[in-house]
Amino acid sequence: MDNAYDVAFRRALRDRDGFWAEAADDVRWFKRWDRVFDDSKAPFYRWYVGGLVNSCFNAVDRHVEEGRGDQPALIYDSPLTGFTVKTFTFRELRDQVARFAGVLAAAGVNKGDRVVIYMPMVPEAVVAMLATARLGAVHSVVFGGFAAPELAARIDDAKPKVVVTASCGVEPGRLIPYKPMVDEAFEIAKSKPGRCIVLQRPQVAAPMVKGRDIDWDEAMVKAKPVDCVPVLATDPLYILYTSGTTGTPKGVVHDNGGHLVALKWSMRNVYDMAPGDTYWAASDVGWVVGHSYMVYAPLFHGCTTILYEGKPVGTPDAGAFWRVIAQHGVQALFCAPTAFRAIKREDPDALLLKNYDMSRFRILFLAGERTDPDTLRWAETHLKKPVIDHWWQTETAWPIAANPMGLHRFPVKPGSPTKAMPGWDLGVLDGEGKPAKAGEIGSLVVKLPMPPGSLPTLWNADDRFIEAYLADFPGYYKTADAGMIDEDGYVYVMARTDDIINVAGHRLSTGAIEQVLASHPNVAECAVVGVRDAIKGEVPVGLLVLKAGVARPESDIVSEVVGLVRRDIGPVAAFKQAVVVARLPKTRSGKILRGTIKKIADSEPYKVPPTIEDPACLPEISGALGRIGYARTEP
Ligand code: COA
Ligand code: AMP
Repeated sequence: MDNAYDVAFRRALRDRDGFWAEAADDVRWFKRWDRVFDDSKAPFYRWYVGGLVNSCFNAVDRHVEEGRGDQPALIYDSPLTGFTVKTFTFRELRDQVARFAGVLAAAGVNKGDRVVIYMPMVPEAVVAMLATARLGAVHSVVFGGFAAPELAARIDDAKPKVVVTASCGVEPGRLIPYKPMVDEAFEIAKSKPGRCIVLQRPQVAAPMVKGRDIDWDEAMVKAKPVDCVPVLATDPLYILYTSGTTGTPKGVVHDNGGHLVALKWSMRNVYDMAPGDTYWAASDVGWVVGHSYMVYAPLFHGCTTILYEGKPVGTPDAGAFWRVIAQHGVQALFCAPTAFRAIKREDPDALLLKNYDMSRFRILFLAGERTDPDTLRWAETHLKKPVIDHWWQTETAWPIAANPMGLHRFPVKPGSPTKAMPGWDLGVLDGEGKPAKAGEIGSLVVKLPMPPGSLPTLWNADDRFIEAYLADFPGYYKTADAGMIDEDGYVYVMARTDDIINVAGHRLSTGAIEQVLASHPNVAECAVVGVRDAIKGEVPVGLLVLKAGVARPESDIVSEVVGLVRRDIGPVAAFKQAVVVARLPKTRSGKILRGTIKKIADSEPYKVPPTIEDPACLPEISGALGRIGYARTEP
């Protein structure tokens, strides 16, 4: 017999407009849409055309109107600042957001303008995002682990009127002054934002630039609250930059209407949450998980969301997640498997779990990278609750594949994020672009159109959108993940098909790191590969070929390139290891054999590629990687 998932999945395919029109009834519109779906400008598909909406209104104001004003909306929990806990009810959050919208408006932000937010995990980051949305402006949050040049690249692309920042971030054992990085980014950027709003945290006092910088607290005292500005459903809500295959990041756009409907739908049907529940995504505002499941989706759905400024381990121990769950009555946690690998390493028998009341906790959701079967089993054994792997991307904003806990709970197959969600017509294509058979590995693709919530385009880069996602397989969106779908319809996501690697659930381009290494004056050529890591899944490792005649010590050059990556990309790259080699393995046409290097580094058996120019270099590569702890076995 069909289950609720089968019914929903089929309907979303056969009666797409009816399915998504019904889902849209669950959100508040200022004006209902004229058309659910518009393909008149295909492949730039649009949802809820003509509808007027505001994402901030749906996240906060509507809940105050509907009687949730006194319910906690946001709980800030910060072990990194002496275990600070601060709760904002929906009413308090609305008031803060309306006031900060007044600050932004006074700084010149209008509907459609961009606001770059470069902030640590403080409630003001959420306030800034929602306030931007309130004005119908477009936010672009930049993760705090990115360095000034990366921030400047995003400023140049988004051309914000205002940058919002804080005086510092707090990492275990050290403070990270943000303002000097912002000032440097202002210097580097060609497009200068007019204003910088600075939240002074007690840990660090940021130097202010007269005439440009605005103190958050002072401005809030003077500001007049501003109401929600209706925007078209098709107007952009945010831009989130993500690693592209070149050094230039891609500005992924998400619109207001489709994003709102899809995310709200997912809270009930994928995550099995009801309004009033407490939901925690242990991510960062700088990532898509932070946007979708820390800020927007839980608030759209009237849930309490947790903002956690801490780590899974070391703040103060591997029981940190259990403490937060117990203290705030969290029902569902969403995090990256890497966090659980870190906890498992510190507390293999989960002894610390016994100290906490986990009775309200129901489900663990994992995403950002594949959930390895060991981590899955460990979490299931100790939590004794469902552990749900699910797969999605910055571009999609909500899961492509999941075990839809609110519709039907399928048996878990380790290594699979279960099934394609309603709206996602997922398939696998072989090397020739033909549908692969069940169980055959190929490119995971989504038949167009994609459902609401997914990216309509890239910021100011329609051509790049087509080239990056739609050109390789006409009629399909290329996920750039390789995988398969088995006979039961279970999806398996195996590896990226581009140069992206996944470091602790963060997406990084090896090409971008190579660009930085190549800028070192002693480096003639280089390659970066993602090498297997027990905690972070993968870490980048560089191979350097030096220019003729360079006789400097290897250790000096390696520490310089490590420093360069930290300076130009940021600590988020987790780039700590490089090794000097005499030459790189290449095909006869000059293509670097990164796949073979990776296999050697991971101590996996490899075949000598028939196209290789000089097979004798492979043992050298193996020896060099062996010096830094990789490549333990010979082919
Ligand atoms: N601002 C500035 N620096 C930051 C930062 C921020 N917001 N976030 C991280 N960094 C720095 C860290 O301090 C670290 O610097 P270091 O090289 O000097 O130690 C570096 O960036 C890498 O950080 P991180 O990936 O967090 O590694 P870690 O070794 O500090 O912690 C884990 C390891 C597994 C605990 C951690 O990676 C983790 O919690 N991962 C969860 C990932 C996640 O939430 N992903 C989001 C998708 S769901
Ligand atoms: P991001 O856009 O940063 O969220 O990264 C998206 C990429 O992370 C995907 O394209 C996958 O390569 C990987 N990813 C995310 N979730 C999963 C998962 N559950 N299983 C396998 N890979 C995943």
